[in-house]
Amino acid sequence: MKTLAASQLSILAVFLCLSLSAAPVSWVFASEPDSNRQQELQYLLKQDCGSCHGLLLKGGLGPPLRAQDLKDKTPAYLKQIISKGIPGSAMPPWENLLSDSDIDYLVQLLSTQSSPSTQ
Ligand code: HEC
Repeated sequence: MKTLAASQLSILAVFLCLSLSAAPVSWVFASEPDSNRQQELQYLLKQDCGSCHGLLLKGGLGPPLRAQDLKDKTPAYLKQIISKGIPGSAMPPWENLLSDSDIDYLVQLLSTQSSPSTQ
């Protein structure tokens, strides 16, 4: 009985190792979104965030979000705002729609782009 359980365990262990090594790296380590997702996020930034912050993020209902406008804000602050929103304002929380790495990527876009790509 003992040996059976042990061999079952080792089969399980081998199976786990195999399925982990077969998984894409981005699934194991929450790293950058893949290039399709990056395109979607650039679109989202322009269309969804842009509906309040302006299509070129120059401001509208929400404040401007170009890199030069956010240069004094830390990535941690931006991540917090995008995840949780700003209670009592129109700025909605995005954590239920976007993954952690999605939000990291948006923060990266916001801190490096003067305007989202116009494609
Ligand atoms: C429904 C309108 C709306 C949408 C959609 C929206 N925002 Fe906002 N956002 C606001 C408003 C309004 C504020 C300012 C709230 C305040 O400070 O009272 C704000 C504030 C912010 C701030 C803080 C800026 C600063 O200077 O401190 C960031 C960052 C931000 N939004 C990012 C985003 C991102 C990224 C998206 C898309 C994922 C987004 N917002 C979508 C309305 C919106």
